[in-house]
Amino acid sequence: MSVHLNVRKVTTHVLHEMKLKQEKISMLTAYDYSMAKIIDQAGIDVILVGDSASNVMAGHDSTLPITLDEMIYHASSVVRAVKRALIVVDLPFGSYQGNSKLALSSAIQIMKETGAHAIKMEGGNEIRESVERVLSAGIPVMGHLGLTPQSIHKFGTYVVRAKKEAEAEKLVQDAHILQETGCFAVVLEKIPAKLAAKVAKELFIPIIGIGAGPDVDGQVLVIHDMLGITQEFSPRFLRRYHNLSAEIRGAVQTYIQDVKNLDFPNEKESY
Ligand code: KIV
Repeated sequence: MSVHLNVRKVTTHVLHEMKLKQEKISMLTAYDYSMAKIIDQAGIDVILVGDSASNVMAGHDSTLPITLDEMIYHASSVVRAVKRALIVVDLPFGSYQGNSKLALSSAIQIMKETGAHAIKMEGGNEIRESVERVLSAGIPVMGHLGLTPQSIHKFGTYVVRAKKEAEAEKLVQDAHILQETGCFAVVLEKIPAKLAAKVAKELFIPIIGIGAGPDVDGQVLVIHDMLGITQEFSPRFLRRYHNLSAEIRGAVQTYIQDVKNLDFPNEKESY
């Protein structure tokens, strides 16, 4: 019997069991109550309240501007909707880097004020102390390596990461460090499929890929991208499951016509 179908509440322990049984983990982002409710009812395993909210909800051109308070607003809306999925919240840029005490206080604030189950941080060895301190408070941590959007100004571009040997070696080392430190899972973003497969094979914790090929333990996508709400973003790794922007535009155009033509509201829609 699949682990996924058998559980009423997904925990970090359930995700480890899924990896052991080679059952793939499904993960999507959500930032608001209504969408989180639909995704949870559909049976998603993990919901990430990603700092991609900075792009898709607030219209910024990077994840850097979003604040801890804004992440808390999104996460608490999601938590109110969800019954089954594990909810992971991104620690935003500036709330943990280079200061493990700040990392702990940011993580505690998220856990206390939202009711989420875990936090995610970007980086490897350089954030080890922060990861350790957060874990010491009993807060589960998901790592994030490869293309880490909070460091976009260091990389300069959103191209595939770790194609060169030195960077690939560092990524593998960082993944081991995150596992040894106690992370319950790691996201690998936009790296060669072969490298991601190697990491997933070497580590006992689940590896969730986005643009990291099929041979990892699970997949994550940004909900606005996979539903076709965003239009301008179309990397190779993205599969669009719907063209929601066209459907919404069509529905709104029909509504406008109905209002202008005095067709809406009709007698049945009036008191
Ligand atoms: O913020 C986010 O949506 C993410 C995913 C792309 C993994 O970190």
